[in-house]
Amino acid sequence: MADLAVITRQALDEVAACGDLAALEDARVRWLGKKGRITELLKSAGKLVASAGPEAVARVQKARADLEVAIVARRAEISRADIERKLVAERMDVTLPGRGEEPGGLHPVTKTRLRIETLFRQAGFDVASGPEIEDDFHNFGALNIPPDHPARAMHDTFYFPDGRLLRTHTSPVQIRALLEHGAPLALIAPGRVYRCDSDMTHSPMFHQLEGLAVGENVSFANMKAVLHGFLQAFFERDLAMRLRPSYFPFTEPSAEVDMSCVFCDGKGCRTCKHSGWLEISGCGMVHPNVLHASGVDPERYTGYAFGAGIDRLAMLRYGVNDLRLFFENDLRFLRQFRAFGA
Ligand code: DAH
Repeated sequence: MADLAVITRQALDEVAACGDLAALEDARVRWLGKKGRITELLKSAGKLVASAGPEAVARVQKARADLEVAIVARRAEISRADIERKLVAERMDVTLPGRGEEPGGLHPVTKTRLRIETLFRQAGFDVASGPEIEDDFHNFGALNIPPDHPARAMHDTFYFPDGRLLRTHTSPVQIRALLEHGAPLALIAPGRVYRCDSDMTHSPMFHQLEGLAVGENVSFANMKAVLHGFLQAFFERDLAMRLRPSYFPFTEPSAEVDMSCVFCDGKGCRTCKHSGWLEISGCGMVHPNVLHASGVDPERYTGYAFGAGIDRLAMLRYGVNDLRLFFENDLRFLRQFRAFGA
């Protein structure tokens, strides 16, 4: 019994020396298992009491308890060290960019629309929208295009069986905005429009930009200044602009807006068909019938309106020569716009 202290010391040293969980388990079995040395001592408790007195059993029990505590502590140490080792060995840099990652980008037409919205907001215009499924009243009737009007033939309208239609232009937003807010107002309405038409320069779905400003003393000269200012800001350069007399049922007088060609600076090239000018928008003073149909008093208020193709503005800004490229969603084409700002 004199060597219980020696035995205990030896057991504790062995436990402390264990480098992994398997070795620790072996040590536990060796000392505390069914046939372990300390277990054996306790089994012979009767002999112990006889040879070393009753407190000898208590000492062995204390030795066993101490050893158990040491094993649990060592087990925790080994586990912690294992985790530390793994953390070091399997460290990865989570800030590294992933492989095959490709950043997306906005579609060139979307970039163009956002740029237009920003420029007009700076000029005090609101941005409005309306439904793409329209009714005859908003798309035609209220815009001074009665049922038998020849302008309807030019619109190649997609009709639904119930008589509703896919809007052929963004002009119906003029009516909706005036009916809702009344005069005065100044807004643009960018959006999708639909016509049964498809070739190099026409797609069955395309994007238009509507503009409308109604108030007291709103003039044709105001319109001219706003359009010219917009074109110069949009293309970021000095441009010549001219207005040619034209006809639209919803404006009177009406005009076609031309700007000097951005590819040849007005000298003449293929894009401008050697005229030096690019047709960019229709415009005019809102027809009194349109104001009237929208609940606005044409005796008190005047207004101007314009309608331009957003896709065409995008084509001219980015130098794209086929409208259909915008709608094919070929990534080789679209990727080229990632680097461009708006
Ligand atoms: N709505 C016309 C179209 O789609 C474009 C247009 C022309 C709109 C003149 C206007 C305007 O507001 O004043 O062809």
